[in-house]
Amino acid sequence: MNTTSSLIPVTLIPGDGIGPEIMAATLKILETIHAPFQWDKQLAGMAGVECSNNPLPAQTLESIHKTGLVLKGPLTTPIGKGYRSVNVTLRKEFQLYANVRPVKMLIPGGRFENVDIVLVRENLEGFYAAMENIFPVEQDTKAIATCTGYTSRTECHRIVKYAFDYAVANNRKKVTLVHKANILKELCGLFLEEGRKVAKEYQDKIYYEERIVDVCAMELVLIPETYDVIVTTNLFGDILSDLASGLIGGLGLAPGINIGNKTVMFEAVHGSAPDIAGKNCANPLAILKASALMLQYVNRDDLSDRINKAIHQVVIKNNIRTRDLGGNTSTSELTEALIQAVQ
Ligand code: NAI
Repeated sequence: MNTTSSLIPVTLIPGDGIGPEIMAATLKILETIHAPFQWDKQLAGMAGVECSNNPLPAQTLESIHKTGLVLKGPLTTPIGKGYRSVNVTLRKEFQLYANVRPVKMLIPGGRFENVDIVLVRENLEGFYAAMENIFPVEQDTKAIATCTGYTSRTECHRIVKYAFDYAVANNRKKVTLVHKANILKELCGLFLEEGRKVAKEYQDKIYYEERIVDVCAMELVLIPETYDVIVTTNLFGDILSDLASGLIGGLGLAPGINIGNKTVMFEAVHGSAPDIAGKNCANPLAILKASALMLQYVNRDDLSDRINKAIHQVVIKNNIRTRDLGGNTSTSELTEALIQAVQ
């Protein structure tokens, strides 16, 4: 048993859509292994709007400033209208500059056997700055739309260095920098220029290569086993990480970490999946794996290993899987099986 004083405060944001279901499943499993966390439950996204007409309430921000550690469910962002992405705002507010997305094959017998990629995505700049404008032409008030992206030398350096340090610390062999500097000669050119400088500092330890993003996309679906650590800009990282999670069975298996100097936020790569919300069929494994990474982060590898072993036992050995993984188990049945396996 953990005493209250030994518990680590964590801001818990259940999220929207399937968020509350998959988070409840994860909390039950964490409770079973007596994970040393003290949860401060807060709202954001649609849940925040419904409760206080604010997608990012001040109380939520205050909690994150205090704890510096967040487990966050997916948050809905209205498409093409409405409030701006709370995820993007959180990344900016807490300067979560690196988004780390490990993609490792779990279920054998799929299209690929040896996928083990860690995608490091720049999290603050690029087109996600979303400085957008519309311009009228004659009667059409919205005839032309523009978007300005930007990259800074400092941020390019920081993210590529992060990727190399990650590679060294995790015994990885290669970093691939992914860009589109043939077309976006300044925006991506600066990323490439800075990346090459950083790569030189690590040339004795880590093999470095470069790929144009379209070639990388093709290679990821043909020869994903040749990739190790990928570092790339914000938008490309977003797209490629979903692509990569598709290689190992889909979004339901992919966790992500947003890293800043003072705050770290763990989440699933997937969104709020409104199409299956409330149907007891969502796969809780991505957010559960994110919580296992959080346990590692607080130096409880023992508990993290128990979660990963339980996932292996249930999903691989016992073949208990939700619909997205080709099974017919409900979220609650899978959770029960995981609780039994983790004890
Ligand atoms: P999505 O990731 O929510 O769903 C894409 C497809 O994958 C859907 O068919 C969904 O049912 C399925 N799926 C996703 N997670 C699943 C899970 N755990 N188990 C089983 N199936 C799963 O992407 P979509 O539909 O583009 O976005 C929905 C909302 O989520 C949007 O408002 C979007 O902005 C938001 N979003 C939030 C993210 C976050 O909070 N980190 C990340 C991506 C999207």
